Amino acid sequence: MQVSKILNRRTFLRTTGLGTAGLLAKIGVAPIAAKEPRTNTIADFLEIALQATAFELPLLPGTWTRVWGYKGSVLYGDPASLQTIQEPPRNYPVRFSNRANLQAPPRRARPPYSYLGPIIKVRRGQRVRINFTNNLPEQTVMHWHGLHIAPEMDAHPSFLVAPGQNYVYEFEVANRAGTYWFHPHPDGRTGRQVYNGLAGLFVVSDDEEAAASLPAGNFDIPLVIQDRIIDANNQFVYQAGGGQTGGMMGNDGFLGDRILVNGRPDFTLDVARRAYRLRLLNGSNSRVYKLVWDDGTPLTVIGTDGGLLERAVQRNYVMLAPGERVELWVDFSGRESGAMMQLRSLQFSGAEMGMGMGGNQMLPNGAPFTVMNVRVVGRAGEPTPPPTQLSTINRYRMEDTVNRNAPRSFAVSMGTGGMMGGGMRWLLNGRPYQEAEVATNEIVRLNTTEVWELINNSTGGMMGMSMVHPIHIHGLQFQVIERQIASQMTAGYETVRYGYVDEGWKDTVMMMPGERIRLLLRFEDFTGKYVYHCHNLEHEDAGMMRNYLVRA
Ligand code: C2O
Ligand code: CU
Ligand code: CU
Repeated sequence: MQVSKILNRRTFLRTTGLGTAGLLAKIGVAPIAAKEPRTNTIADFLEIALQATAFELPLLPGTWTRVWGYKGSVLYGDPASLQTIQEPPRNYPVRFSNRANLQAPPRRARPPYSYLGPIIKVRRGQRVRINFTNNLPEQTVMHWHGLHIAPEMDAHPSFLVAPGQNYVYEFEVANRAGTYWFHPHPDGRTGRQVYNGLAGLFVVSDDEEAAASLPAGNFDIPLVIQDRIIDANNQFVYQAGGGQTGGMMGNDGFLGDRILVNGRPDFTLDVARRAYRLRLLNGSNSRVYKLVWDDGTPLTVIGTDGGLLERAVQRNYVMLAPGERVELWVDFSGRESGAMMQLRSLQFSGAEMGMGMGGNQMLPNGAPFTVMNVRVVGRAGEPTPPPTQLSTINRYRMEDTVNRNAPRSFAVSMGTGGMMGGGMRWLLNGRPYQEAEVATNEIVRLNTTEVWELINNSTGGMMGMSMVHPIHIHGLQFQVIERQIASQMTAGYETVRYGYVDEGWKDTVMMMPGERIRLLLRFEDFTGKYVYHCHNLEHEDAGMMRNYLVRA
């Protein structure tokens, strides 16, 4: 994999107040390390300004909803590199209320229709610089979920940006074409900040993807699925303690009873009678989806977290845990104009949260509901044969791993973790998150391939323990090679297992209670400290996160 080193001057850039022109002049546009064969040109360079800020938007009739979001603009490069996820409707109000902002509002004709940030569209090999400004009333840090970049760009939770401050993220896009995303990552505050609205998609394209001739442009649709609780005054409610239960058992997670797609409640997607590519992201804090088309059409899966599969696969349903992406191919050409379809989440069991805690669960994990409606419109189109060959995946091999005889194993658990006062909290590798701490079994060598085993030993002994955990590893994509379930947990497992899509590259993997998962992963190009954690954001905030260190 070719990855040119990040600019040496980034530390300098991060702390200067130079404008774009100054920055470009200073660095002469993306210098390349001497041994780097790639020749970046100006066309390969994209510079954007991105600010995290509070604002209000009309989500439902009546009072506007206070949210946090990312607003972006292209400073250098193709203006089409930034797109809004959801265009405002024709009757959209032009008033821009910005009372909650700390600084003057950016000059924009109209506010974004969705709280979700811009879709950042890049090509593999492109160099990207993001001049980030934190206009929130608290510290934050951006994270580029799924990207293979250096820890200080990733960004490790220790690279906090104070209110009013800037940070320059700069990297070359090394990932293959796929649907990646960005969101905040301050330890202990990630769940709340994402819940308030901070998230956006980072879509990478490349030549291999272009050769697959998938539906593109208006027929390539991002769908970010989230849940919220919205009060009578149209405001998002995030319960203190992070979950429906909170309390002594720690944070189970947040579950809302309103499903939002692309930041809109009661979402309906109008589609033409033809084939589409749908890019789904589960951007929810804790909710797991078991996705189906309501008319029984099988799901044609073409991609996962790290891009396209080698070949499309069919599933009767697909599980999508927080942080995961799945790409679907679907052909609406055989449907009548005016036909309605639903994307639904089906009932499943074994992933309940806060069991027996007397929690107020309006819509538990595993309950069935509608995710969105699809309305077919327009004249009849030609059916398209489903895609066959999509990409090539280089398989890691067990025999190439340096630890094949002794896989590293990382278990999720709950305990006091040395906390004062005896409060229970979530643990990973037997420990809660400590910013500076790396355990001896969390140190890996650069340029090695390893096998890791993730273990969810919670088999229902303790209340609240029998839970699903989507485990995410920063800085790389991995391959899932094996899953095993404890015999006493097979009943719930049977309701989800046929919805896993492990055929492609993954950065987040759903792990049911009693499940063990083996992964192959390789550490390349960058040394330093990354995190791995549960992508149930309340679990992450409550300690279920650890560092791993890549050493030269
Ligand atoms: Cu999507 Cu560490 O996160
Ligand atoms: Cu991530
Ligand atoms: Cu978890």
